[in-house]
Amino acid sequence: MVTMVTELKKQMLAQTHVKIENLSVRYNGTQALQNIELEIPRNQITVILGPSGCGKSTLLKSMNRFLELTEGTAIEGNVYVDGMDIYQADVDVTRVRNKVGLLAQRPYPLPMSIYDNVAFGLRIHGKDRNAKLDDLVQHYLELAGLWEEIKDRLHEPASGLSIGQQQRLCLARGLSVEPEIILGDEPTSALDPISARHIEKCLQSLKSQYTIILVTHILRQARRLADYVVFMYLGKLVEQGPAEQFFNHPREELTRAYLEGEI
Ligand SMILES: Nc1ncnc2c1ncn2[C@@H]1O[C@H](COP(=O)(O)OP(=O)(O)O)[C@@H](O)[C@H]1O
Ligand SMILES: [Mg+2]
Repeated sequence: MVTMVTELKKQMLAQTHVKIENLSVRYNGTQALQNIELEIPRNQITVILGPSGCGKSTLLKSMNRFLELTEGTAIEGNVYVDGMDIYQADVDVTRVRNKVGLLAQRPYPLPMSIYDNVAFGLRIHGKDRNAKLDDLVQHYLELAGLWEEIKDRLHEPASGLSIGQQQRLCLARGLSVEPEIILGDEPTSALDPISARHIEKCLQSLKSQYTIILVTHILRQARRLADYVVFMYLGKLVEQGPAEQFFNHPREELTRAYLEGEI
């Protein structure tokens, strides 16, 4: 019985959370992504790697329909989150964006207190009614690894936090709407190395509960964090696979060249 349960759990963990089929994206006619086929595992950190301009952000934003916010964007193909085809006409976009949260390159705290930045999402989603708001705010600040540092200054403006703390605050705010998937678009690129490590540690501790998809062009960061790697080049997906295999035994010549710093 126990082995059966463990087996079942293993299968669930290995499940695909996001599946992309034949995805192509154009910005005003210019091709940014071409025929992408991709399966992202649940409860792991998937790193999307590749040089600047190769389509990493575009691929990430295809997963929560953020691409549509840019005018002139044409999207072809299918993106499934938990088996739901998110580009179907009857899909509620807000629901998709709640399920799939985005942590941007730079933190954008709301012009209000630290507390209210987290409470904001909770109030919108009516979560302040049932449980105690204070407890929930604390919970999400703890998940984002910020609570201990700021618990005595909750009602001070968020703008007074360091940029690294602001990024963790934005993570807490994002978590408060209870996404299943966290997208990070180079979320540490504006941060100093110590703040970057804080975010990395946080993402590592969150992966047991969330699926994390992280864009980076920093190879060392990818090596530290990735369970699964997707390598992009010039709008195409070159190679994907488990991190160990990807870094140690790349299948493609282009991947090998990239890993050896030749690109
Ligand atoms: N809003 C946009 N309008 C036109 N072209 C864009 C836009 N955003 C990105 N691109 C182009 O699409 C390609 C992929 O961009 P992007 O996904 O941002 O790459 P990356 O995140 O890997 O740097 C690039 O050639 C970029 O110039
Ligand atoms: Mg980008």
